Amino acid sequence: MAQLVETPATTPPRIGKQGDPCVMVIFGAAGDLTGRKLIPALYNLARAGLLSREFAVVGVARAKMSDEDFKKKVHEDVKEFCDDCTEDDLWEWFQRRFYYFAGDFNDDKLYPQLKDYLAKVDQDHSTHQNFFYYLATAPSFFGPIVEKLSTCGLMEQGNGQNSSHWRRVIIEKPFGHDLESAKSLNQQLLKVADETQVYRIDHYLGKETVQNILAFRFANGIFEPVWNRRYIDHVQISVAETVGVEGRGSYFDHAGSLRDMVPNHIMQLISLTAMEPPISFDANAVRDEQAKILHAIQPMSDEEVLSRTIRGQYGEGTAEGKRVPAYRAEEDVPADSRTETFVAMKLLIDNWRWADVPFYLRTGKRMPVRNTHIVIQFRRAPFVLFRDTPVEHLMPNQLVLHIQPEEGISLQFAAKVPGPVMRLGTVDMNFEYQEYFGKQPSTGYERLLHDCMIGDQTLFQRADMVEAGWSVVSPILDIWKALPPRNFPNYASGTWGPKEADELLERDGRRWRNFEK
Ligand code: BG6
Repeated sequence: MAQLVETPATTPPRIGKQGDPCVMVIFGAAGDLTGRKLIPALYNLARAGLLSREFAVVGVARAKMSDEDFKKKVHEDVKEFCDDCTEDDLWEWFQRRFYYFAGDFNDDKLYPQLKDYLAKVDQDHSTHQNFFYYLATAPSFFGPIVEKLSTCGLMEQGNGQNSSHWRRVIIEKPFGHDLESAKSLNQQLLKVADETQVYRIDHYLGKETVQNILAFRFANGIFEPVWNRRYIDHVQISVAETVGVEGRGSYFDHAGSLRDMVPNHIMQLISLTAMEPPISFDANAVRDEQAKILHAIQPMSDEEVLSRTIRGQYGEGTAEGKRVPAYRAEEDVPADSRTETFVAMKLLIDNWRWADVPFYLRTGKRMPVRNTHIVIQFRRAPFVLFRDTPVEHLMPNQLVLHIQPEEGISLQFAAKVPGPVMRLGTVDMNFEYQEYFGKQPSTGYERLLHDCMIGDQTLFQRADMVEAGWSVVSPILDIWKALPPRNFPNYASGTWGPKEADELLERDGRRWRNFEK
């Protein structure tokens, strides 16, 4: 096995605490997520000097591969998915830490063998018996893998003076497919592990711009005083994608956009936008406030589901300049599928800050542009002093948090149009991340993996948060199941979804803000 080598000279000075010594065990090491995200994220962490020298990776998957084959695959992934990966010294340092262990996750015999194998890797790399398991597998394996790890002692932590070590598990999404299944997965996990060992990942929390919502709100004095029902008219959250189902038809057709995006990613965006200031940035203080918001979302009655939620499915059309097929013509999708690829809804939050302020959400595949943003629309000025400018002709102030692909913040306000007469126009004041901070190589998983290595759970979902997210969508799932849609497909690829989504806001005298790029 490999000898320890020093952090290479090419590694830049690190900003932040180095990860603890540990072994990362990746279940599903031959899969897409590992290649596209996890390996590049580890490489970027190595490049930033944030991996411990005492670190190793053991990939576990069913495919037969030698360590050398695995390293070759890892090298391909780094070359394909990391920007500027020409540092030979760094690669040399990195690749010495990779091992591969072939096996079937369902096989009970795998686990004692893996335990012996990990003991050797641990010794060779002095990783202090700290192990974290990343479950990049199909969701049906989540519970069984953790149970089997526990049965052979691989979840046991040591708290003694001479044998202190940790064991953690990172669980990918989807965490359950409804409230009941999410609860039962939580029970299964928490039977054999403590909540502090369970890291439920939501990759939206790895995005810089999502984390910046907290900094924006709570590190500045000027926004919080107006961040409430007195000044805010409504909030819009849009997660628009141009892609279709990208070869994931069999997964997606069972999930649909509601399950795929709302209880997880969109709930994160809502809770960060709407939460009260936490008493500290301690993981539980932040998550307590997020959980409170999720619990405060008004559950919908059957009638409200019918009037406040919209579902859609794309037909054929044009995406990014090319003709694309209808959802029902995608691979692994039944020709009469009733699965939604678009969702819009209006939610209300029952608390003093947000009473009567609608939160409109929408997410869809095959939209005209890829764009995730949060629009905070302020109330109009109560009256306008300028002659010939009726108040209803003035655009209200909007603050937009641009999450992706543009990363930044913009504020829209009224200004005088130059000229001899007093006319008002709407202008934008823009902040762009890249302009100020440059571009950091990032997959969005760096921070999350590093947090797991240092034991910081702030950006991971707690059991109660996951369940609260599912509670919001449960009544919708029930009604939609009972009343299958009759008009699918109801929007053309390359458009902003069904017209009913526009009507949802028009009924309230409002309008979606659509970005062109
Ligand atoms: C995933 C969903 O969780 O998030 C996908 O399963 C979706 O369907 C993806 O495309 C969106 O992530 P991002 O980071 O591209 O916005």
